[in-house]
Amino acid sequence: MEFAWWLVAAGAVLCLPGVPGLNNGLALTPPMGWLHWERFLCETNCERDPNNCISEQLFMQMADMMVTNGWLDAGYKYLCIDDCWLATKRDENNRLQADSTRFPGGIKKLADYVHARGLLLGIYQDVGKMTCAGYPGSEGFYELDAQTFADWGVDLLKFDGCNYESLEQLEEGYRRMAIALNHTGRNIVYSCEWPLYARGMSKVNYTEVAEYCNSWRNFGDILDSWSSVKSVIDFTATLQDQLVPAAGPGAWNDPDMLVIGNFGLSWGQEVTQMALWSIMAAPLLMSNDLRDINPRSKALLQNQEVISINQDSLGAQGYRVLKADNFELWEKPLAGGCLAVSVTNRQEIGGPRWFLLFRSMLWKGLACKNKCYLTQLLPTRHEYGSFNATFSLELLVNPSSTVLLRVD
Ligand code: GLA
Repeated sequence: MEFAWWLVAAGAVLCLPGVPGLNNGLALTPPMGWLHWERFLCETNCERDPNNCISEQLFMQMADMMVTNGWLDAGYKYLCIDDCWLATKRDENNRLQADSTRFPGGIKKLADYVHARGLLLGIYQDVGKMTCAGYPGSEGFYELDAQTFADWGVDLLKFDGCNYESLEQLEEGYRRMAIALNHTGRNIVYSCEWPLYARGMSKVNYTEVAEYCNSWRNFGDILDSWSSVKSVIDFTATLQDQLVPAAGPGAWNDPDMLVIGNFGLSWGQEVTQMALWSIMAAPLLMSNDLRDINPRSKALLQNQEVISINQDSLGAQGYRVLKADNFELWEKPLAGGCLAVSVTNRQEIGGPRWFLLFRSMLWKGLACKNKCYLTQLLPTRHEYGSFNATFSLELLVNPSSTVLLRVD
């Protein structure tokens, strides 16, 4: 049994409030919303696929869904545009412009539409010469583009890292855009991909990344598949000694979008993604079709008790404490000395398996000394009741699924 005592100590350190993040007062809990990329990619042919092409109509429909179907009430407030919204050229004043066929009203009109419904608007650009899909990038225009976004009423910027010239240009570009956004005076959450692109060329300085960005991607793009979700979880655990201390209010590791409600995950795997993204204090940015989502996935994504683990005010990122016998045990310290705990069954042959959870496996900082109240939140809600200081609990976990608990 491999037991990471040093991480328990790290967890205790994380309970101290005030882990420094970008000092713009934003994203004090992980941003929640919807982002088009994984589900809708870069379909620009609206004649062929009018309902799914990247157009203002798509975003207006999603905005309507977010308000009428309980998403906004559940906390999902950022409606985010990804790549492929741009015209192929800047205007005569070098300002960015949206594709005029697909966004006839322009981004300002879309922002007004979104704001009128109580939502916030996110947009996408790139630090290099071109975006990943080949549209004009921000290189050479950081200040102008930041001002353009502010003028339009944009509330979040996802800043990608394709087509940069050197590591220096990439890093300088990320810094300059952060400063430019702050100079506009508008509240704009800054979501970076800096570590993803810098990794391999240098050791990522997470202290610096957290000083400039509200969130940052560390790994490649998530796909609508269990193998992809698993690889993100595994990457995060492998790098947790670097990632976990960097996270805190205003600064979040971003394991990429929630793909719950699409085609690739079984029910148990959807439960695992929701549980682990909550434990990891990840931005909860769904990429799915809110016009057509099954009720079970919707209820999972809107589960308030699970969301409250993700949104916990302490802002500690959870970590893996144990990996043994094809089980993984993760925990996330919560405000008030409480704890979220997840057990994932990583064995993909056979049926449900029992995991025996002991109090001694968990965080020493738990406030409940002799009276811990245990509630299972996923896959179904169950109150186990009060336990003393030496409790143990047998949990039955389905293959590739997760049991999520809260200890108060
Ligand atoms: C990169 C990013 C993705 C998405 C695409 C758009 O691959 O990592 O999240 O934004 O670019 O082209």
